[in-house]
Amino acid sequence: MSRKTSNPRFPDSYIGSMSNDYNDSIWMERNQKKTASICIQYLYDKKLNDIDPGKNLIEQNSLLLDLGCGTGFSSEILSTHGFRVVGVDILKDMLYKAGEKKKLYSEYKKIEFILADINSLPLREMVFDHSLSISAYNFITHGLLKNNEKIKRINATAKYLHKILKPLGRLIIEFYPLDEKELTSYISSFINNGFNGFLIKKYEKQKSGQTFILLKKPK
Ligand SMILES: C[S@@+](CC[C@H](N)C(=O)[O-])C[C@H]1O[C@@H](n2cnc3c(N)ncnc32)[C@H](O)[C@@H]1O
Repeated sequence: MSRKTSNPRFPDSYIGSMSNDYNDSIWMERNQKKTASICIQYLYDKKLNDIDPGKNLIEQNSLLLDLGCGTGFSSEILSTHGFRVVGVDILKDMLYKAGEKKKLYSEYKKIEFILADINSLPLREMVFDHSLSISAYNFITHGLLKNNEKIKRINATAKYLHKILKPLGRLIIEFYPLDEKELTSYISSFINNGFNGFLIKKYEKQKSGQTFILLKKPK
């Protein structure tokens, strides 16, 4: 598959033969892995340490949740950094590819993959040390047309993510909001549900496109 020029569409870009194309794309693999590495650096970000000074150690064997893990590129990078990883994805076709790699490659052996919706995770509270989401979070409102429904959903999801993280747990989200209004809704959902944090964008005045949100649950 050649490098994509248009934005991926959910779920069309990830089902059936498109999941094979996704998994076989060298550009996609490189891109997802590079972004995962950047997110790991953000996990250790000094400004996040400063929010709650004191015990801020990020242990190598911390349990990490990869939200929207796809065929496993991002989970692979987290695992090779020594983290224990649970990857969740809503699409069977994408997870099937991740499962195939689990059988073949040592880097995948320890990763747990779960078929689940980020919006209704079958996970217990305060289990995960940290969580990351790479190029998936903007899809969580898929299927909703009305703005109030979207806001309700992103709030409910942020609330639940806060619950499943341990105190001082960090949440790093890389995603592609459509515009400033959408970005503001996502930020509000995290702040209103008890997270602290900040935004990182490529350009100061950027209102859409690749955006990183660095968040932390207080003690
Ligand atoms: C760009 S892809 C995968 C990115 C992944 N980080 C990787 O390294 O391959 C985005 C993924 O988000 C998943 N996704 C979209 N909405 C989801 C949801 N509500 N719950 C779980 N996964 C979701 C899609 O199925 C797709 O596999």
